[in-house]
Amino acid sequence: MQKVALVTGGMGGLGEAICIKFAALGYKVVATYSPSNSKAQEWLRSMNSMGYGFKAYPCDVVSFDSCKACVEQIVKELGPIDVLVNNAGITRDMTFKKMTKDDWDAVIHTNLDSVFNMTKQVVDGMVERNWGRIINISSVNGQKGAFGQTNYAAAKAGMHGFTKSLALEVAKKGVTVNTISPGYIGTKMVRAIPQEVLDSKILPQIPMSRLGKPEEVAGLVAYLSSQEAAFVNGANISINGGQHMY
Ligand code: CAA
Repeated sequence: MQKVALVTGGMGGLGEAICIKFAALGYKVVATYSPSNSKAQEWLRSMNSMGYGFKAYPCDVVSFDSCKACVEQIVKELGPIDVLVNNAGITRDMTFKKMTKDDWDAVIHTNLDSVFNMTKQVVDGMVERNWGRIINISSVNGQKGAFGQTNYAAAKAGMHGFTKSLALEVAKKGVTVNTISPGYIGTKMVRAIPQEVLDSKILPQIPMSRLGKPEEVAGLVAYLSSQEAAFVNGANISINGGQHMY
């Protein structure tokens, strides 16, 4: 039977590449998008004009109630969710000296609370059906820290603590929980870094001297979602061109 894959922040960047990969593999693909995203319907029309057949639902991942309502609607209209990719995330990069409480809260709420808010809606169903995949998109900067990212690195590192703990709790039920930690991938988020900083501080750290491609991350998501990956659980898989090895 066709599996349902739900990708938060599925429009643009990594999320879009992940949706495209799932569609190619025959999943029923659902992307969530921020209710403030005025381009969502345009995106959906343009993707579906290429034959992808995506579904899209507004969801404020910061709000538990919004996630609950969104997932309930998806389940009602499309069936239970087999794969959840917690991909939605933002940056508010600045040195800690300049960072306000609002900058801290915005990133922790969007990048970490969202993982609780969404996972909570799907995990019990996965356990009941004895099959499920939860994939948390973290970051190399959650593993090694990054100048100007105390908020982002804290959220992304927290995500992996969540992964490891939940993986223990659901391991016997055919549900796996894993983290992917991409390095610098050629998305809008990375291209927002000032070119001078990218060229002088970041690219020199990457042995391959290039940014990663969204499709490279999507391929890894596809693997973790597959039956073949049933024994991969609680892992944090790096995909960073050799920028950080441990
Ligand atoms: N490493 C070391 N020193 C750095 C640095 C870095 N990466 N970036 C800046 N500095 C230094 C500057 O050279 C400067 O030094 P001097 O005072 O001696 O000249 C000092 O720090 C202060 O610099 P700024 O005045 O530019 O500080 P700022 O607060 O205005 O800007 C910043 C700092 C916003 C963090 C900017 O450096 C920046 O955007 N850095 C990129 C952060 C980053 O990597 N973000 C990742 C986004 S992509 C992503 O998050 C996806 C993913 O998962 C990988």
